[in-house]
Amino acid sequence: DAVELGQYRHYMQKEIFEQPVALANTLEMLGTARSIQPGLFGAKTEELLSDVRQVLIVACGTSYHAGLVARYWLEGIAGVPCNVEVASEYRYRDSVSDPQTLVVTLSQSGETADTLAALQHAKSLGMTRTLCICNVPESSLVRENALRFITRAGPEIGVASTKAFTTQLAALYLLTLIFAKLRGRLSPEVEAAELQALRHLPVAVGKVLALEPAIQTWSEDFAMKQDALFLGRGRHYPIALEGALKLKEITYIHAEAYPAGELKHGPLALVDKDMPVIAVAPNDALLEKLKSNLQEVRARGGELYVFADADSEMPASEGVHVMRLPEHYGQLSALLHVIPLQLLAYHVALVRGTDVDKPRNLAKSVTVE
Ligand code: G6P
Repeated sequence: DAVELGQYRHYMQKEIFEQPVALANTLEMLGTARSIQPGLFGAKTEELLSDVRQVLIVACGTSYHAGLVARYWLEGIAGVPCNVEVASEYRYRDSVSDPQTLVVTLSQSGETADTLAALQHAKSLGMTRTLCICNVPESSLVRENALRFITRAGPEIGVASTKAFTTQLAALYLLTLIFAKLRGRLSPEVEAAELQALRHLPVAVGKVLALEPAIQTWSEDFAMKQDALFLGRGRHYPIALEGALKLKEITYIHAEAYPAGELKHGPLALVDKDMPVIAVAPNDALLEKLKSNLQEVRARGGELYVFADADSEMPASEGVHVMRLPEHYGQLSALLHVIPLQLLAYHVALVRGTDVDKPRNLAKSVTVE
């Protein structure tokens, strides 16, 4: 282990820091092109996607959270209606099927039993246009799909998924751009700019990783807490969910995530000085609304830890800790904002002395129901 881990203490830390390389490898096939080739997802991509009426994303755990982010992109950028379902629920509920649905399964391992079964269920309902985004080329899931995109994150050993998530997001963004292009919603200039933004991601992620020492300092404040609340809005709400999941998985602190506008419908009752509130707050259209949600937390004595970005106007003050990500990244900001949350969970786990790579009761790949 010592050799493979190199300078890192745990696989999770190593995998968090491998994200720039994982993204560069996953996006390598873009080369320097100014336009995107639909064939990235398989030879029949254009044929299968051209008259798709809606997308159904099915996945579990962290992969499910990637699907939730993608819904904002697919509907907002490409204008494609999109539903996202937890695989273990979808397979057992009566749902309305449409043969012109593209069924997208997301999985790091490609062996998650519920995801595989959900795909079979969708096929049995007549939905045969299938696409998977998976990190293991020889997995069962890849064999079952007409279209596929292999993320090139490399082996992920830590039970808590990190680099698989960000590479899935990159792949889902590519899928969004392909849909947008097929639907005439992507001008050549915008397309070139989007590809450039994707290519720049490894550098942007590298800059976020440099925040580790500051995050380590914050982690001391969390180590003694019993509960934490994560808030986000829009495409950053799934990032709040993922931040809460990471914290639960490896530190055993009870964590919940809410879309910040829902605070007043329940979780505000829990807020006091012992409940740290973590906010994902890049400068987007909902930032002003988020700020007023955060004031509600502050008014109840809640201690705020805010991950802003270079463009968010978010001053620190008494009880409001602010950390800024170096770049504002538009639609792709979700991909950058998950990284400090991964690092936060990791460092809180170190302070608490839990088994970071093999948290109790959890498995890397859940191959039974
Ligand atoms: C397990 C792992 C999670 C993972 C989930 C889905 O619960 O502990 O990290 O997100 O399975 O796995 P998959 O391989 O399908 O992405």
